[in-house]
Amino acid sequence: MNRAIIIGTGSCMPKRVVTNRDLESMVDTSDEWITTRTGITARRIAGPGEETSRLGAGAAREALAMAGVTAEELDLIIVCSISPDMVMPSCACLVQKQLGALNAFAFDLNAACSGFLYALDVAEKYIRATPDMKVLVVGAENLSSRVNWQDRSTCVLFGDGAGACVLTGTSEDRGILASRLYSDGRLWRLLSLNGAPSLNPDLESPGGNGTYIKMAGPDVFKHAVRSMEEAVLRLLDSEGRAIEDVRLLIPHQANIRILKSLAERLGLPFEKVYTTIGKYGNTSAASVPVALDEANRAGVLRRDDLLLFGVFGGGFTWGAALVRW
Ligand code: UT7
Repeated sequence: MNRAIIIGTGSCMPKRVVTNRDLESMVDTSDEWITTRTGITARRIAGPGEETSRLGAGAAREALAMAGVTAEELDLIIVCSISPDMVMPSCACLVQKQLGALNAFAFDLNAACSGFLYALDVAEKYIRATPDMKVLVVGAENLSSRVNWQDRSTCVLFGDGAGACVLTGTSEDRGILASRLYSDGRLWRLLSLNGAPSLNPDLESPGGNGTYIKMAGPDVFKHAVRSMEEAVLRLLDSEGRAIEDVRLLIPHQANIRILKSLAERLGLPFEKVYTTIGKYGNTSAASVPVALDEANRAGVLRRDDLLLFGVFGGGFTWGAALVRW
């Protein structure tokens, strides 16, 4: 059977580290509140030359080098982001240009914080149909430019960065085994970001049309835990696997309390949950590929490990995937 397999990972984080203490002088918050409520102690904030597409291209170069694939060999580039450099052209086209990947077609995919799993699923479908395809999937964000720095309930949570992976086909029984994705647009108001003032008067976000992230935090928290739990259980059930079979959960990194609660409900020891939330905060579509790359480069992942991914984000969108490494 043809499967899609990840053959290289990479990441690229902005240089500037902003700690909770730094934020104390910017908004009415405290290191103690942020740490205990979220698990975040620092985040990276992009500066000049670290736009979304450049971070994305930086992560892509690392992934390509690990995969031993040249930019010219890429057939498809998918970039997931809710903070692309521009609406048009797509961030994927800007990444393509920077890489010189002129034989690829390129498009953006927006599923908010769930983007990476959605893109992995799309890549997997292409590769199943055409196994020698080489696909680059990038999650890249510049969320510091998309938060309201007067709103302490959101600005302390998010960070910038990018992660990437390169996929191709394999006849081995490894790679992406299955994924389950969900959306519920009825709940859009609980987590939103206008790219520009909405053209649709029915879609004005709570709190006005400003172009920054708005979130009903506690509501999103509850949905995130329950939805990811349900997605994981359905996925394990349909694949005939038990939670005990999972070597590592690499989830979207939004809040350490969400991850602890999810692990507890699933009966998964927390040592099996890979976290980067402490040092990077919530990097939306970048969070899973950055965590994957970090785990990969740290030698945490062993061949044939069963990896579980879980994501949740605006839309709402959510899902889970199983990968045999
Ligand atoms: O990535 C996409 C998915 N996103 C998520 O999954 C995020 C989900 N939500 C969360 O992680 C949490 O709900 C938050 C971290 C956003 C908030 O934590 P919480 O424990 O739900 O706090 P809360 O919103 O209920 O606020 C509790 C208190 C409030 O004060 P009062 O009304 O109790 O006096 C807030 O005004 O904490 C206050 N507060 C803050 N205090 C200091 C809110 N933000 C801050 C802050 N510093 N930064």
